[in-house]
Amino acid sequence: MMLNPNKVNYNRKLAKITRKNSVFIGILMFGMIILLVVFFAPAGVQLFNMNYSHDANAYDHRIVIAGDQAILRELKAEEPEIVEVPEEYINPVDRIMSDLNGVIRKYPHHNKGLADTLYNEVKILCWVNTWPSNHKTRAKAVKETWAKRCNKVLFISTKEDPELDTVALPLKDGRQYLWSKIRGAFTYVYKNYFDEYDWFVRADDDTYMIVENLRYMLYQYDPMSPIHLGCKFKPFVKQGYMSGGAGYVLSKEALRRFVEIGIPDPKYCKQEEDEMDDVEIGKCLEKLNVTAGDSRDWNGRGRMFPFIPEQHLVTVSPKDGDFWYWKYVFYPTDDGRNCCSDRTISFHYISPQFMYTMEFLIYELKPFGLKDDEDVLPKKYDEL
Ligand SMILES: *[C@@H]1O[C@H](CO)[C@@H](O)[C@H](O)[C@H]1NC(C)=O
Ligand SMILES: *[C@@H]1O[C@H](CO)[C@@H](O)[C@H](O)[C@H]1NC(C)=O
Repeated sequence: MMLNPNKVNYNRKLAKITRKNSVFIGILMFGMIILLVVFFAPAGVQLFNMNYSHDANAYDHRIVIAGDQAILRELKAEEPEIVEVPEEYINPVDRIMSDLNGVIRKYPHHNKGLADTLYNEVKILCWVNTWPSNHKTRAKAVKETWAKRCNKVLFISTKEDPELDTVALPLKDGRQYLWSKIRGAFTYVYKNYFDEYDWFVRADDDTYMIVENLRYMLYQYDPMSPIHLGCKFKPFVKQGYMSGGAGYVLSKEALRRFVEIGIPDPKYCKQEEDEMDDVEIGKCLEKLNVTAGDSRDWNGRGRMFPFIPEQHLVTVSPKDGDFWYWKYVFYPTDDGRNCCSDRTISFHYISPQFMYTMEFLIYELKPFGLKDDEDVLPKKYDEL
């Protein structure tokens, strides 16, 4: 077949023009993209900046906010240059801090007169009820926060863990064996530590305790009197029983009666498994003539609580509603601003994250220039 030479030529020309055009359009689009990147990329970065840019943490914040891998790479390229700060600009406090050898915060009033005195006078053993699956989370947080203020702490679990230094009881995991666990734990404590301590606390691995305030409450009592204290609930036991989650404390004499007389004898303590361990120990202690004490302060405000602070302080469950707590709680208390004593001892359902937060808010954060009232010890009950 013959081709029309003119037509071929024309086609070639057309192809050439089209190629020229696409090159031109390509260059144009490329230029526009460059312009877009140059003008708008800083604005985009600004979005993720969130005004942290004055802060050394800005870089981290942006990465967390951005998330997306592409943006992450872009931001990495933006890592701020590290500038050597001239000696004269270094805050003198930084210089002092660097001399403290790893101690980051140090407050003079934490060289605590009376808290130290009570540490030696009101000797508390705390045993923390935990499980293998919580060792690295909840129990770790307890160990690193409030538990170090007990004179002795034991983590009672069902598996050994050298990192946590657990006491492993030969029991199966599960709520249905809780009553066995509580009996086993107190028996272990009694056999190994009875002589050295005056008060014996049971706490969960999501209980947070302000141990100084626990000592302050216990200071008034004689550990040789048969008493236990906690967040007291009404049902099941005539004199009331103590919520397990809020933590409770047995006097030395209460522990002795529980382990020596109560646990081995079905006349006093239930011998079968039960998951209502706090109810069972309550029944048992009542039969052993161990008083269920009142842990409220001199204003009638509670000191030991079965929920997180927020729930008692702010998000009040209506009293006329069905919420079990109002039917259980022994003393007629209020939620809201007046819920909780200035000397509150415990809260429950505290996550590990919140445990570290509580620790910071209670022990480290200090509003500048405010001074506490002079701390004064109350009279002991046998001196009244
Ligand atoms: C950042 O700070 C500037 C002034 O310092 C302010 O006008 C702007 O609203 C702030 N942007 C954001 C996202 O907070
Ligand atoms: C408890 O008190 C009652 C009445 O005083 C007494 O009969 C009983 O023996 C006591 N039980 C124990 C274990 O102390």
